[in-house]
Amino acid sequence: MQFRDLRKQYEHNKSAIDDGIKNVIESADFISGQAVYELEKQLAEYVGVKHCISCANGTDALQLSLLAWGTGKNDVVFVPDFTFFSSGEAVSAVGAIPVFVDVNMDTYNISAKSLEKMILKVISQGTGTPKAIIAVDLFGQPADYIKIREIADKYSLFLLEDGAQGFGGKILSKKACSFGDISTTSFFPAKPFGCYGDGGAIFTDSDEWAALLRSYKVHGKGESKYDNVRIGMNSRLDTLQASILLAKFPVFIKEELDAAQEIALFYSSRLKDMVIVPAVLQDYFSAWAQFTIRVGNRQQRDGLKKYLSDSGIPVMIYYQKPMHRQRAFDMDLYHDDDYPNTNTSCETVLSLPCHPYLNRWEIQFVVDKICEFMKGSQDV
Ligand SMILES: Cc1ncc(COP(=O)(O)O)c(C=O)c1O
Repeated sequence: MQFRDLRKQYEHNKSAIDDGIKNVIESADFISGQAVYELEKQLAEYVGVKHCISCANGTDALQLSLLAWGTGKNDVVFVPDFTFFSSGEAVSAVGAIPVFVDVNMDTYNISAKSLEKMILKVISQGTGTPKAIIAVDLFGQPADYIKIREIADKYSLFLLEDGAQGFGGKILSKKACSFGDISTTSFFPAKPFGCYGDGGAIFTDSDEWAALLRSYKVHGKGESKYDNVRIGMNSRLDTLQASILLAKFPVFIKEELDAAQEIALFYSSRLKDMVIVPAVLQDYFSAWAQFTIRVGNRQQRDGLKKYLSDSGIPVMIYYQKPMHRQRAFDMDLYHDDDYPNTNTSCETVLSLPCHPYLNRWEIQFVVDKICEFMKGSQDV
């Protein structure tokens, strides 16, 4: 059993992927080729925004977005404490200050209440100038954009949706990667919609920001690549990766999202009395980047992890360490007491294999092993 089975996925999509790769190689159209523009067009249409700007990875996508807003020294960007390192790294990389915010215990997404508390704290302590909020669609579920947008408007902050894990999710019919003033995603192979290397994309309705993003991602280009009007990055999605994504896209939207949903529902219905299963809010649809359960304490989580691993079930801990405890950041800025939910989550969560190519027998086996362990640990 694989945590995410990219080989099975390739078998399922083989002829379309092979044809796409062959076309790129035969046309020698490796950088900024036709497939890149076709992909951007299809993704913008799917998400329902005016512009999709592809780039080299999801981390660059965040950094480029912050650059387009002129984010830099003394600016504060609010970031959930429970996320992958990139969400905060991008802020520090442009010279701004990441201020971490606790998450909700049910969805693991940024807490509106903690966000407002941290904004007021930054203002009263003069930590810097509040500039933007990064909301992450953690594990595939969009953040609470209704409340987060209200707060962004109240304090005149930009809203950046980090949809690296969320592409394919939605709230009612509004798709993930359309909730931010700018939104980003990652095509890292293990993501819900992944390529065969690194890749990323940025989405926005703003013509002005789209033009800036297209400049920043190609060495700050002006009229041409050799006319450079700002310091930028080299962050292009290569044509081979775009061709792979184009080949996988119809299957992703027609089959894979529903298949992952079915698996998640099966897990939830069978496990809900044993462990805490992920809460999906009403009218929300998760892309199921992860199916993450929670148990009572660290000892139980570590025991369950070992039990499942010993039974041949691949599991992962996303995430072991809160952002505010990462040594790369200025840890003096943060106080452990501000992050009770993240601290607890890091000690008690466990992500199970969850991908569209798992079969019923495999899912049942995971369920049985979890039940076995949990019953045993209750009997102790
Ligand atoms: C929430 C989040 N943001 C950003 C990224 C960065 O994406 P990439 O690996 O494509 O740079 C990831 C990737 O794991 C992620 O999970």
